[in-house]
This record gives sequence, C-alpha cells and structure tokens, in this order.
Amino acid sequence: MSTAAARRPEPGLRALVEGAARVLDEAGVASPRRDATALAAYALGVERLELVLPPPVPAGFADRYAQLVERRRLREPLQHITGSTGFRYLTMYVEPGVFVPRPETEQVAQVAVDEAARLAAEGRAPVVVDLCCGAGGIAVAVATEVPTATVAAVDAAPAAVALTRRNADANGAPGVRVELGDVRDAALLADLDGRVDVLVSNPPYIPPDAVPVDPEVRDHDPDLALYGGGADGLEIPRAVIAAAVRLLVPGGLLVMEHAEVQDAAARRDADATGAFADVHTRPDLTGRPRMLVARLAHPGAPGRSGESPTDTVGGSQA
Ligand SMILES: C[S@@+](CC[C@H](N)C(=O)[O-])C[C@H]1O[C@@H](n2cnc3c(N)ncnc32)[C@H](O)[C@@H]1O
Repeated sequence: MSTAAARRPEPGLRALVEGAARVLDEAGVASPRRDATALAAYALGVERLELVLPPPVPAGFADRYAQLVERRRLREPLQHITGSTGFRYLTMYVEPGVFVPRPETEQVAQVAVDEAARLAAEGRAPVVVDLCCGAGGIAVAVATEVPTATVAAVDAAPAAVALTRRNADANGAPGVRVELGDVRDAALLADLDGRVDVLVSNPPYIPPDAVPVDPEVRDHDPDLALYGGGADGLEIPRAVIAAAVRLLVPGGLLVMEHAEVQDAAARRDADATGAFADVHTRPDLTGRPRMLVARLAHPGAPGRSGESPTDTVGGSQA
C-alpha cells in the first residue's frame, strides 16, 4: 500500500454500506440494502448494525468489506458468506452443499409445532418426523419449541445429516435423532411404523424443466435438494406421502411443502392413497397455496378406502 493510500482515512460505515448496496442492486441482488448491511455487521462481528449512529470502522475494514460485497455481487448466497441464517427462533449454521432454509418453510414448521404442542398440552409426548431435513430447521424448531416431543430427522445427503446434527446440538436439542436415509426406502424408520403423530417435510419438488433463475438457488443449492424427480417434480413428494401412510398413527398429521402450482396434484396424490380423512391445502404468508395438510384416517372411518396402509404405499410407488 502506498504512503498516500495509508494516510487516506477509511470512509464512514454509512457511505460504505450505501456504496455496497448500489453495487449489489446493479448485480440484481433482490435485497441489496439488507444484504449490504448484513455483510457489514458480519465483517464487524456484531449481530445487528445501527446505521443511524454508525460505529467507527476499524482499520482494514473497507478492504475486508469490499471482498465480502464482491462475493455477494457474484451472487454467492448471503447465508453461505456469513455461515448462518435465522429460522424461527433459531440461529442455524449454513454451509455450501446443503439447502439454505427459507422463510416460507417457517410456516410449514409452524403447522407441525402447533400439532405437536396440541398433543403435548393433552399430556402426550408427540413423535415427530422431519423427512428431507436439509440443515434441520424444521426438526430443530419442533424439538426446541415442543420440548416433550421425540423428533427424528432424515436426509439422503450425508452433508445435510451432519449439519442437522450440528444445528440440533448448537440449538440445545441434542436428543434429535438424525439419520441418513432415502424416503423411497420402504424400511425407513421402520421402528416408528404407525407411531408417528406428525410427519413434516419440505422435500425437493421442482420439475426438471423449471430451472430456477436466481443464481443463488440454481448455482448454489444442491440439485438433490431442488429437483423432485419425474416430469412433474413430484416423485419424492409422492414418496413422502407414501411414507406418511406407513409411519403415521391413525389421526396423525402430514404437513408437506410444495410449489404453488402443485397444490391440486399434491392433494390428488394424497387422496389416491385412500388413507387420509382430511386432505387440504394451506396458503403461505403471501396467500400462495404452498402446503399439503392431511390427517391419516382411523381404520374403517370414512375417507379410508379399505386397503391397508402398507398396500397403499406399494401401490402409489409402483
Ligand atoms: C428443499 S431441501 C429442504 C431441506 C429442509 N427440509 C429445509 O426446509 O430447509 C430438500 C432436502 O431433501 C433431501 N433429499 C432429496 N432427495 C431425498 C431422498 N430421496 N430421501 C431423503 N432426502 C432427500 C435433500 O438432500 C435436501 O436436503
């Protein structure tokens, strides 16, 4: 560094953040100012940044901040740069190779938490399973918000399993059972067959011809986490529904996220099992139909087509 540059005072924090926000805006980042502020907070090692009365910037901050902003300008996800994200009451570790938990999934977790809390209030210890757990947001949210729940989480990616374990431990939920497994495996969590009160899932569901446009998603979320398989993207979601038929206790609840164009297909797939008494769609916070909610019928009750859950699993996966 030249003597002149060494003598030049660092620009103030507010000016740096405003400049960074302009750079990120030009790069097409959806929330440039929020991201510029979050990166500055990360570089300063503080949780939140108050720009009304900004703190003085330490020596070398401008260079360090510029490097972080450049990574974001190239559309690396903010959460990969900072290494964490918020999910409900949790601070979750995030890392490349594992799907970044999304705000809309907090609503899916809410339905699972509500059902588990309802059962806990009745004096029962609910059993909750999170299939396709990713970083573990849903499983850890249920375990921390309903402490009497027994929670199991499964993912097919070893990196996701390891990260869920880490997030459960870091958030005070070391009792969460975390397993490597495939939702298409008819023996998955076999010891819980017919014993699960809530089966919740945000599986991959994007069809092969709907490649996401945002580079953060397309280039950084793993394909295994995005594409649901089959022409409609619903192969893995259908396997989740089949697993729910096998694992849920009669009266147990299935909660599954899907794309906003898949609500009718998801309801049809659940109805086709003949195992659910109440199959409906719930909206996300913006009113889009994003969640299948279905309650397993009691044997012999209306809505159940007569076949055993096991027969239905085999039939729908054939
Ligand atoms: C959309 S991500 C969701 C992750 C997490 N549930 C969340 O909401 O943040 C889908 C996850 O499903 C996992 N997955 C994909 N195919 C699977 C399969 N056949 N069996 C189990 N997990 C699978 C992926 O590894 C990924 O972690």
